[in-house]
Amino acid sequence: MEIRIFDTPAQCGNACATLIAAQIIKKEDSILGLATGSTPIPTYNRLVEMYQQGIIDFSKCRSFNLDEYVGIPEDHPCSYHRFMRDNLFDRVNIDIANTHVPNGNASDLQKETSSYDKAIIDAGGIDVQLLGIGRNGHIGFNEPGEKFITPCHEVTLTESTIEANKRFFDSENDVPRKAVSLGIGAIMRARCVVLVATGKDKAQAIHDTVKGEITPDVQASILQAHPNAILFIDKEAASML
Ligand code: F6R
Repeated sequence: MEIRIFDTPAQCGNACATLIAAQIIKKEDSILGLATGSTPIPTYNRLVEMYQQGIIDFSKCRSFNLDEYVGIPEDHPCSYHRFMRDNLFDRVNIDIANTHVPNGNASDLQKETSSYDKAIIDAGGIDVQLLGIGRNGHIGFNEPGEKFITPCHEVTLTESTIEANKRFFDSENDVPRKAVSLGIGAIMRARCVVLVATGKDKAQAIHDTVKGEITPDVQASILQAHPNAILFIDKEAASML
């Protein structure tokens, strides 16, 4: 695991965007694994700038998002479909037909999750997977548990995640209790994984991810076993290393 420490979240975002841009320049039909949440916003802002400056072209890229809540409409202001349109897809020239976000409203979630995994495999696998990390060490919505779950699956969100994500909703009661998440398998099969973490409230999770044992209690710790995982963290998130 390679660790790069920066002074500010904006610097983390710039560096992470540069890595993703390099991937797109190297391979114009790159398969991008994308994340939502607060952390990737500086990365997306920088990617949009690079697109506007003519440095990168998304027209041949395809993307697969990590996760989506179960049971809120795609156009809900807090859905990850909406987040991706607002923060990236509607701001660059990616073909929306080439973007994929799990369907949390599918009538058959089992079918949805297995076809999502298959679509990634059929596309040739993820070239670069962008990740944030939960305060409890989750990646995607792979919550702490007894095992690493490999396939895309339906998850019950933990209290910690509901508490952390209530800031996006009107109240804690409005936070969906379930989600669909890419499993650890697709994340580990990505050819490159970039995890961004900023702020003091991620310091413990980053410590456990980097210095702890590999354990499903800290799902991100599996990245110690990934051959090409890079952490972009600010000095606050790095403060316990
Ligand atoms: C989002 C995701 C989550 C977030 C994590 C951190 O697609 O998969 O794992 O990356 O919950 O969220 P923020 O960045 O809001 O602290």
